[in-house]
Amino acid sequence: MSKLELVIVLAAGDSKRMKSETSKVLHEIAGRSVIQNLLAALTPLSAKNLTVVVGAQKEAVAAHLLKIAPNAKCVVQEKRDGTGSATALALAEHKGDGTVLVLAGDTPLLTNQTLSEFVKAHQDNESPASVLTALLPDPSGYGRIIRGDDGVILKIIEEKDASDSEKDIDEINTGVYLFDIKLLRSVITNLKSNNSQKELYLTDVIGLINESGKSAYAILSNDYTETLGINDRSQLAECAAIMRDRINHQHMLNGVSIIDPTTTWIDADVVIESDVLIYPGTSITGNSKIKSGAIIGPRSVINSCQIDTGAKVIESNCTDSKIGKDAKVGPYTYLRKGSVLDSESKVGAFVEIKNSTIGQGSKVAHLSYVGDAQIGEESNIGAGTIFVNYDGENKYQTEIGDHVRIGSDTMLVAPVSIGDGAYTAAGSVVNEDVPAGAIAIARSRQVNILGWVLRKRKGSKSAAAAKKAGAKE
Ligand code: UD1
Ligand code: CA
Repeated sequence: MSKLELVIVLAAGDSKRMKSETSKVLHEIAGRSVIQNLLAALTPLSAKNLTVVVGAQKEAVAAHLLKIAPNAKCVVQEKRDGTGSATALALAEHKGDGTVLVLAGDTPLLTNQTLSEFVKAHQDNESPASVLTALLPDPSGYGRIIRGDDGVILKIIEEKDASDSEKDIDEINTGVYLFDIKLLRSVITNLKSNNSQKELYLTDVIGLINESGKSAYAILSNDYTETLGINDRSQLAECAAIMRDRINHQHMLNGVSIIDPTTTWIDADVVIESDVLIYPGTSITGNSKIKSGAIIGPRSVINSCQIDTGAKVIESNCTDSKIGKDAKVGPYTYLRKGSVLDSESKVGAFVEIKNSTIGQGSKVAHLSYVGDAQIGEESNIGAGTIFVNYDGENKYQTEIGDHVRIGSDTMLVAPVSIGDGAYTAAGSVVNEDVPAGAIAIARSRQVNILGWVLRKRKGSKSAAAAKKAGAKE
């Protein structure tokens, strides 16, 4: 297969139907922008040149392209007067001859396989122009293919310009074309805007090629879902769901159990080993990596986390964190950025952790906030413990050694350190370091005033109960 000379991606459109401040090509599907998904399918074609036509939101689109495709050349279309003029601008900026692939930036589901087959069919036909087409259950909104004999296309008619009988045609233009560059240059200058949108349509070059005595061919794609375009939010959601199914299917083929694929959302760049079990209502995003034997969900949100073998994360929200081998998280745990849970540690219900390490086998089981702390091995942080890391201006560190027992409802006022094997008494406010092996008791001593209820709450149910129990005034 000879190399493509040029790929042109059209991404200048105003995205009017999205009703968004953001260009539709920058909206996300599976953790990648719409255009990034498309470019991922193009990369293996190794075209010599890639030009992206930008216009609406051009600074944002160009800045994004610089990050994801630094070799792409951006051509600016100031006036959005159609796909034909956008393509003409890109061609004017290019010198070489050969074959050009033109696509719309808003079709993120195309795969490399389909594009490669399209290029091969075009080359086998030795045709000067080919259009990738699809049969859609609901073709409304798309350009319709008017066929001649033997696979030749006579023209493409846009929905807005189509007659009722033309609208009945269910073969549509996917917006993916291959052209001989010389031929395209010669016809594109003849486009006219005498249509309902007063635009120069790229689709009209097919009619012009046909009139010039040459033939353009329709090549039907096998899977219409790949060719769906995003023009509005409903189509964005539809494409996202198809991408979700595709990603989940691949993970399941790789040996991942996904109990309910329809409620499990996994980003394209997530890596999951075999024998991971994912329960319903879970999303795994960013560059998360999940090792074999881990159990995730139900209803967990995992963003850019590394989860080791045998770890369990139940009904929890975790971001930018590391969860060690056989560690247990949840239910209802919030792991914020920089939480590191060593192997066999446990973090339980209503615990929030930020920028802290929980050492091997240590437990923060209930109702705690742990911020900016280093906790050693096999220590236990009692229920309701708060790491008081912020004085209103600065954040401070807390250090906790190995085999420490922090009593329930302790306030650890940072900066503070608790030595190996030390204890704190329940309800203590600890603002001084505790040496190894000591117990810190930092609370007022309890006083019992006998008979107080009988004297001060005479006639109450409490007084009656106390009396029955033998209390005296
Ligand atoms: C286009 C095709 C239609 C096809 C459909 C496939 C035309 C006239 N129609 O319609 O036959 O079925 O794609 O998805 O081509 N763009 C520019 N500059 C412009 C206008 C558009 O760069 O002046 C870009 C858009 O950003 C978009 C792409 O071209 O990425 C297609 O434009 P869009 O407005 O989405 O065309 P459709 O109405 O979907
Ligand atoms: Ca479109």
